[in-house]
Amino acid sequence: MTSPHLSADGVEAAKLAALEAISTAPDLEALKEVKINHVGDKSPVAKFSQELGSLDASARAEFGKIVGQAKSAIATAFEARSKVLEAQRDERVLIEERVDVSIPARRTPAGGLHPLTILTNEICDLFLGMGYRVAEGPELEAEWLNFDALNIPADHPARTMQDTFFIEPLDSHLVLRTHTSPVQVRTMLQEEPPIYVICPGRTYRADELDATHTPVFSQVEGLVIDKGITMADLKGTLDHFARSIFGPDVKTRLRSSFFPFTEPSAEVDFFFNGRWIEWGGCGMVNPKVLRAAGIDPDVYSGFAFGMGLERTLMVRHGITDMHDIVEGDIRFAQGFGTGGR
Ligand code: PHE
Repeated sequence: MTSPHLSADGVEAAKLAALEAISTAPDLEALKEVKINHVGDKSPVAKFSQELGSLDASARAEFGKIVGQAKSAIATAFEARSKVLEAQRDERVLIEERVDVSIPARRTPAGGLHPLTILTNEICDLFLGMGYRVAEGPELEAEWLNFDALNIPADHPARTMQDTFFIEPLDSHLVLRTHTSPVQVRTMLQEEPPIYVICPGRTYRADELDATHTPVFSQVEGLVIDKGITMADLKGTLDHFARSIFGPDVKTRLRSSFFPFTEPSAEVDFFFNGRWIEWGGCGMVNPKVLRAAGIDPDVYSGFAFGMGLERTLMVRHGITDMHDIVEGDIRFAQGFGTGGR
C-alpha cells in the first residue's frame, strides 16, 4: 500500500527543500536548525524512510532506492556545507581573536625604595656587619626619655616651644622625639651591657621647610656600652663609617663640643670634595646618663654618635635642595635607580 505522503515527487520536493536550506544556511548555528528540519529523525525524508516499512516488497524496493538516494544526497550536501562553514568560522576566530604581540604592553611600574631608605639600609647593613643590632623606638616619645634621662635639664633651650613639638595635653609629657637619642636610653634600660646598637629613625623639630631644613627629618644614632671603651674606639668607628659612606679616602676630625648626654663631647666633621663638612655629634656617654639607665659607670663606659641622614644624603649626592628629599617627586628617586619606570 502506497502511503499518501510517499511519492517520487514528494521525495524530490523534500530533497530540493533540504538542499536549498543547506546551501543557504549562513552559519553553523543556522545549519543546526537545518539539520533538525531537513536531515534528522523528524525531517520529511526520515519520515519517508519510516513509511517504507509499510509498503509491499516491490514498492519498497522502488521507493527505497529513491528515498535512499535523496537521503544520501542530503547527507553529502550537509557534510560539505558543514565543512565550508566550519572553515569560515575558524578563519573568523583567527582574525577576531588575534593577539597583536607587537602592541606596547601597559606596564605597572615596580615600587622602589626612597633614597633615604636606601641610605638607612646601607648604614644598618654596615653596622650589622660589625656585630651591632638595629634598635628602634617610638616617634611619639616620653619627655623624660627624650630629655631628662639624657641629662637635658628643664631649662635647656632645646626643650622650649620653639624647637620641640609638645603633645597636648601638656601634662601627658609626650613629645615628638627631637632626636634618636631616647632610643639609647630605652636600650640601656632594657639590656645589660655589652650593648652595640644602631638606631635609625624619624625625628621632629619646629623648623620651617627650606633648602636646608625640614621639620621632619631622620637621624641615625650609634651606641656602644662595654668594658674599657675609649674615645679611640669612637674615632675608629666613625672613620670606618665615614669611609664606607663617602669613599675610602675620606678623613674625619673631632671638634670639641657640648652635649648634655656625652662627656667629653665632640662634633664630627669629614673632609669631602676639598672641604670640612659638619656631620654630627658624638662623645663618651655621660656617667649621669649611664646611672639614670641603671648601668654602673665604674664598670662600663661607652660612646654615642648621631647624625642627620638627609644631610648625609645631600652631601654624598650633591643635592642642594631639601625639598627634593621630602616632597616625594618620583623623578628625584628615579635618579637613584629606584623603581617607577
Ligand atoms: N642627639 C644629638 C643631636 O640630635 C646628636 C648626638 C648623638 C650627639 C649622640 C652626641 C651623641 O643633635
